Amino acid sequence: MADQATHLRSEGDVNNTPAREEWNQQIQDDATQALLQRDADVFLHQSMSTPCLDSLEGAEGIYIQDTRGKRYMDFHGNNVHQLGYAHPHVIKRVTEQMHSLPFSPRRFTNETAVKCAEKLTEICGGDLNRVLFAPGGTSVVGMALKLARYITGNYKVVSLWDSFHGASLDAISVGGEACFREGMGPLMAGVERIPPAVSYRGAFPSQDGSDVHYADYLEYVIEKEGGIGAFIAEGVRNTDVQVPSKAYWKRIREICDKHNVLLIIDDIPNGMGRSGEWFTYQAFDIEPDILCIGKGFGGGLVPIAAMVTKDKYNTAAEISLGHYTHEKSAIGCAAALAPWKRLSKNSY
Ligand SMILES: Cc1ncc(COP(=O)(O)O)c(C=O)c1O
Repeated sequence: MADQATHLRSEGDVNNTPAREEWNQQIQDDATQALLQRDADVFLHQSMSTPCLDSLEGAEGIYIQDTRGKRYMDFHGNNVHQLGYAHPHVIKRVTEQMHSLPFSPRRFTNETAVKCAEKLTEICGGDLNRVLFAPGGTSVVGMALKLARYITGNYKVVSLWDSFHGASLDAISVGGEACFREGMGPLMAGVERIPPAVSYRGAFPSQDGSDVHYADYLEYVIEKEGGIGAFIAEGVRNTDVQVPSKAYWKRIREICDKHNVLLIIDDIPNGMGRSGEWFTYQAFDIEPDILCIGKGFGGGLVPIAAMVTKDKYNTAAEISLGHYTHEKSAIGCAAALAPWKRLSKNSY
């Protein structure tokens, strides 16, 4: 498909537009243009990735630096740099870890991974005390969907229109952006979508200013459809920062409890302190059954993500939820733990 049709674009896609062309044409630097061309020649082209905007040679703190030496404040950064780029302490801890235990094969454990899981359960608090790591957020979403199926015996999932939970087949099946599913054929069965609690054609808020009626769609689908095992949503929609009310989330929690539906909160972009709480659900005074985190969890340095759930769901020991080669990545966990060296007297 040479030209991406407009209806296939998501709101994040600026790469295949006249604005990107215009930006590229302003770059009067042969070396940059040559690198952009080599990139276009060697990488498989895909949406939101190619053609590239520019080429980088450095990143530090809040800045990215292009190959002409110009620095830009990065307000986007794919949500991985809560700590800024190249935080010296994260680099130090990861370097030390690389020299001691660079890789931990599956079926073994290591001190750094255990400490990291312990710390994670501590900041989650409540009943969230069981962890599985994975190399990326999408993989964690997949593990969460599998766990919910296993626990409830129900394979059906409710998600939100316009949501994004990753680009693998299972994640696009539950995702709410149709552009990601276009042309992909049959996907995971049993996904129902409801409208998010956002302004769409003036529909929100209602006259009393409440968004709670959006939660009622969930109960409607659960009752009409039957067999729903999980509801998955971001606590706060990241891409355009849509923040539902506490009342909305309390009602969602209540509906899930009433119908034995597991609540999966995808906090992959917004977790790890971005909302002012460690995790968005904490601001809403609820607790999910399964929490998904990633992105900035790895200190902006190492790809690592995690699923956190409760002891009472620790019942799937006979099946493989996430059989990932880099499951207990010591360097990923060293990066994730590094900030606590400064925040507490515990030395990591
Ligand atoms: C809400 C949400 N969920 C899941 C993912 C997927 O995470 P990853 O790219 O680490 O697989 C993303 C990535 O943008 C995301 O924003």
